Amino acid sequence: MLFPLNRPARLAVFASGRGSNLDAILSNFPKGHSLASVSLVMSDNADAGALEKALTRGIPAYTFPFPARKKDKDGLGRKAFEREAEHYLEAEQIDLICLAGFMRLFSLEFNERWQGRLLNIHPSLLPEFKGLHPQRQALESKVSEAGCTVHFVDAGVDTGPIILQKRVPVFATDTEESLSVRILEQEHLAYPEAIRLVLEGKAKFEAVL
Ligand code: GRF
Repeated sequence: MLFPLNRPARLAVFASGRGSNLDAILSNFPKGHSLASVSLVMSDNADAGALEKALTRGIPAYTFPFPARKKDKDGLGRKAFEREAEHYLEAEQIDLICLAGFMRLFSLEFNERWQGRLLNIHPSLLPEFKGLHPQRQALESKVSEAGCTVHFVDAGVDTGPIILQKRVPVFATDTEESLSVRILEQEHLAYPEAIRLVLEGKAKFEAVL
């Protein structure tokens, strides 16, 4: 059994951008929290706001290039990133990885090695609107509800066992931006809640055969 642990869990957050979900995780699990705290931040983008947020709090934060798939046909760039990440994950004795706006896909091997210990947040009510621009997809589909999903990562893109979802209304006057803001507010509640469920052993990865 992976979780619960009989000590505070050490979290890694992987983020490519501004890091507002990282902020939400940090304020729910500050240093010294009995359930968890953030011990590592990693990014593929040297300009990610998430790196600065971590460093100002004294949390180890590293960046390493992770080229997009079309520029990395042989997968060597991805392999190099994963090797670097595994090095820091081991050095920091990480128990759980939280992808928070991390815009790259790991290899099957990486996902399998971290199965049950690798979470992602996606701004749609999965399985609807996987992939890029889910808020735009929601508006184009004229749905009346949207939201966010925290799930375990499996071999697919935005698939994997769902831990929890939060819903918001979609208004006729919504733009992609206004809907994204409404969903993001819920993301900041959903991610810490989902982390708690996993660490307390109340949500587990179950392979769908
Ligand atoms: C969030 O909407 C997240 O769901 C998506 O990318 C965005 C990241 O935002 N995958 P932030 O960097 O956490 O502010």
